[in-house]
Amino acid sequence: MDYLASKKRYDNMLYNRCGRSGLKLPAISLGLWHNFGSEDVYSNARDILLYAFDNGVTHFDLANNYGPIPGSAEETLGKVLKQDMNAYRDELVISTKAGYLMWDGPYGEWGSKKYLVSSLDQSLKRMGLEYVDVFYHHRPDPDTPMEETMAALDLIVRQGKALYVGLSNYNAEQTQKAESILRELGTPCLIHQPRYNMFDRWVEDGLTEVLDKRGIGCIPFSPLAQGLLTDRYLKEIPADSRMAKAHFLKESALTEEKRNAIVSLNNMAQNRDQSLAQMAIAWLLSNKTVTSVLVGASSSQQLANNLVALNNLEFTDEELKSIDAICKPVL
Ligand SMILES: NC(=O)c1ccc[n+]([C@@H]2O[C@H](COP(=O)([O-])OP(=O)(O)OC[C@H]3O[C@@H](n4cnc5c(N)ncnc54)[C@H](OP(=O)(O)O)[C@@H]3O)[C@@H](O)[C@H]2O)c1
Repeated sequence: MDYLASKKRYDNMLYNRCGRSGLKLPAISLGLWHNFGSEDVYSNARDILLYAFDNGVTHFDLANNYGPIPGSAEETLGKVLKQDMNAYRDELVISTKAGYLMWDGPYGEWGSKKYLVSSLDQSLKRMGLEYVDVFYHHRPDPDTPMEETMAALDLIVRQGKALYVGLSNYNAEQTQKAESILRELGTPCLIHQPRYNMFDRWVEDGLTEVLDKRGIGCIPFSPLAQGLLTDRYLKEIPADSRMAKAHFLKESALTEEKRNAIVSLNNMAQNRDQSLAQMAIAWLLSNKTVTSVLVGASSSQQLANNLVALNNLEFTDEELKSIDAICKPVL
């Protein structure tokens, strides 16, 4: 049957302005790093995407290499867009990135103009799109002059292949430099995508200050520490979990100290009438620098659970102190 988006899709979502731009993003966005590749179940991927849109999640985040196999998450999104969501393109913010290894030879990774321009052309083909809303440089390149990488981002916007540009995994100093170059070129930096969650706080060491000062939005990735900050690993390692299936979340990440911290945080969340995942998302959204929290999900039920985070975004000072005290030994 043809998909018709829910008429209530904008009723419950919050939309936050991204830095000092004109663009608003949903407080919760969906990432397609895992669960959307050609080796995953297409009907489940489609289900998550349609559930997301039906509930106001207007932003989908991709990268050239998401899969497995690399590139196939973009193909999955392209298929769902074509079959179900074509009519809604103007209601969606779709981002992709280039920076990590995508193809053989000297032009298949990092930050040269050669790589970035051809990678985005490939991404657009895979997704069946004329443009993406946001194109990111996925990681800083120690060898390419930053002027070249930023000029490539500027060129891509001028060519109409992306509306905005962003940076990912750049530290505070690199972000300042990149933002200055982009501003001079006339293509402001819209957004920064760093890893940020209760267990990983490197961004608080200078980056958030730069983002605030320069008017750049912030969209933390792995807000649930890939699933650690949920009820997934409270007892054992479920066979269908990322830790059991993918090599990106290793068993060694689940030390006894970490499990103790997870159990304590889970108890706190229950006292707040939230799941741990909801509390982890709310904790990020209570930080004024954060525009949107970029979650992953292996089912639409998980996403549904995560969206309930929006019902309670307030923390008392004592709660914030307790979270810090619980996390301190595992930071
Ligand atoms: N820029 C970068 O370098 C970079 C790097 C990584 C990610 N990202 C982006 O950030 C997005 C999110 O990253 P992530 O997938 O690591 O995020 P995450 O939200 O920290 O982890 C998602 C995983 O947590 C589990 N989960 C989610 N909701 C749950 C719930 N309510 N209850 C129980 N378990 C739940 C699921 O694991 P199971 O599969 O075990 O069910 C899910 O796959 C990516 O898709 C990508 O777009 C960017």
